[in-house]
Amino acid sequence: MKDVKQRHASLFLEVRCQDEAPRLPLHSSIVLFLLSYSECKSFKVHLVSDKIDSSLTLQGQLPEFLALQDVRPEELPMLVRGCRLPAVLDETGTLCRAGLAVVLRHIINKSVEAEPSKNDVRQLLGFKKTCLKACAEVSKWTRLCEIGIPSAVEEYLRNPNNQQHHPPLPAILTLEQRLSEPVKVHNDDKIRRQKLKQLRLNENNDSTKASMDSDAGDGLELKAALAKLSVAAAPTPTTRERYEIRKVKTNDLPLLEHVFAEGLYFTLTDVVLLPCIHQYLSFVRTHSASTLHRLPHLLRWYSHVQEVPGVLRAAKACKITLAVPENPLPLAAGPPVEGNLANPPEREEETTTQLPFVGGPRPTITKLKENGIEAAFAHHPCPEWTLPWDSLPDAMNPTEGKMSNIRTVRKRQQLNNLVAMVTQLAKPGFTVVDFCSGTGHVGIVLAHALPLCQVILIENKEESLIRAHSRSVELGLQNIGFIQANLDYFTGPFQIGVALHACGVATDMVMEHCIQAGAAFVISPCCYGFIQNAVKFTFPRSKKFQEALIYKEHMMLCRFADQTAPQLPPERRLIGKQCMGLVDLDRSWCAESHGYRVQVMTMEPETCSPKNNMLVGRPSVEDGPH
Ligand SMILES: *[C@@H]1O[C@H](CO)[C@@H](O)[C@H](O)[C@H]1NC(C)=O
Ligand SMILES: *[C@@H]1O[C@H](CO)[C@@H](O)[C@H](O)[C@H]1NC(C)=O
Repeated sequence: MKDVKQRHASLFLEVRCQDEAPRLPLHSSIVLFLLSYSECKSFKVHLVSDKIDSSLTLQGQLPEFLALQDVRPEELPMLVRGCRLPAVLDETGTLCRAGLAVVLRHIINKSVEAEPSKNDVRQLLGFKKTCLKACAEVSKWTRLCEIGIPSAVEEYLRNPNNQQHHPPLPAILTLEQRLSEPVKVHNDDKIRRQKLKQLRLNENNDSTKASMDSDAGDGLELKAALAKLSVAAAPTPTTRERYEIRKVKTNDLPLLEHVFAEGLYFTLTDVVLLPCIHQYLSFVRTHSASTLHRLPHLLRWYSHVQEVPGVLRAAKACKITLAVPENPLPLAAGPPVEGNLANPPEREEETTTQLPFVGGPRPTITKLKENGIEAAFAHHPCPEWTLPWDSLPDAMNPTEGKMSNIRTVRKRQQLNNLVAMVTQLAKPGFTVVDFCSGTGHVGIVLAHALPLCQVILIENKEESLIRAHSRSVELGLQNIGFIQANLDYFTGPFQIGVALHACGVATDMVMEHCIQAGAAFVISPCCYGFIQNAVKFTFPRSKKFQEALIYKEHMMLCRFADQTAPQLPPERRLIGKQCMGLVDLDRSWCAESHGYRVQVMTMEPETCSPKNNMLVGRPSVEDGPH
């Protein structure tokens, strides 16, 4: 897509304009803060702005060790132009990473690779390196930290009307609540025993009684957290605890308090929150000081982060003056907050709630039939079509590691179906996007089959996308680009969207994205059982289904739509296929309400996958590239 080989990866940050003056949005400030914290010089940093001299005007807020360059939006490389910022374009100019969490995690990766001794930077990714990895669509915690708090604070600072005695922002209260909960960290026994010892000591010492409040032992947690950041491993307690401490059962040990956002240890989440909370507290302190009384844990967090040496250094580099909280406010238990986050972040996985199946799907299918709704499959226009597999380069073949012969054959059959449909829809100059691209089976074959089109692969999982990228480099494909991002961060124009095995609501997200862009789509759904109401949409999707079914009944169809595995009795599979057809009929009617013509068909041969449905949608007005 871009032939010029860059020596450095390029990082692009947004600059907004307010009253004619350039201003850094919070997500740009957060990236600059992390670059400073990690002293990372691996990127050429660009400020994207309509104004030519943003870096000059903003000089007072920019770290001096970075040589920042101004770039206008229209000068951005094509891949970056299609993404919401922040974004990083790699040295080859063909792999773009977009979105706050993805970019921040990448900066940490690059900093550590450049200087492996940076333990305090490595630790930012947290236990198991999962900090902010789960994307905002599926993790409430990522959603709160990556999007909720930055955008709420940004909005609040932009429209600070009626600013006296403001209640805290709801997103901030959610964080305050989270910080008030006790934490559980991996292997925390030792620290909890030390805490018990300290509490006992304090109890036996009258002169410290006075200062005994819920804060006792807090210093211990902070010390443990800070030790984690130093180059040396955390010091293990030197003396063996006395017997009366050792004999206490784990369950009876005192709980640990939050020191940092994710629990005990300083992580990337704190880096994200710091510029946000700093700006918020500074504003509140001068305009609505009484609000601070409702945020004791947040204030304590704000003083804790200032104990981290790297934070002070980064704040100085970014010219942020951190305020010392006046006096540690007593930690009163605040009122319970709505929508608290029940799970600690490390373990968070919002799994599908299983609804009880009373009576199976038959009553629901009958009910739909009474309303004149039945699953129907469109005729496949080219059941025999196949790619010339034997003459394609090896790297184009879907032979994943130890993929068995039969799996390879089936994968090829699935690809035949998708590529046949896309080929029918495509015209020279079109951009085709492979959403959920994985390791690139679909996208790479498409780029080869459609040399006059641009193909973009989008995938959130870095390992998969890197594999796709290196396969493409091996093949020497020129009309292909790669984006690591949540699909929300892709905003570029395209004419055809493709997804093979888009799990659960991913199918609906891709369809919605295509409809917004006025693009045709070819989607093969998967994992119907994971379907549930999501942030952006509810089920059933279409008016006709909504009139016939309640949510629970529709979920019944989804659960049974997954029962199409070959080892099930034929009768069950038949019902499964019927349910699949109905769920996809509902989806297709939803798209038709936006002016689409949609066909639900069965891939050929139907044994190519138990999830063999394919949705092909065409916008009503088919025209060339926009
Ligand atoms: C950086 O990312 C690459 C690709 O995902 C990975 O293989 C590597 O281990 C990471 N390095 C560090 C230091 O985390
Ligand atoms: C009791 O507390 C005082 C003041 O904090 C301290 O100086 C002293 O060492 C403590 N005594 C014991 C036995 O911990």
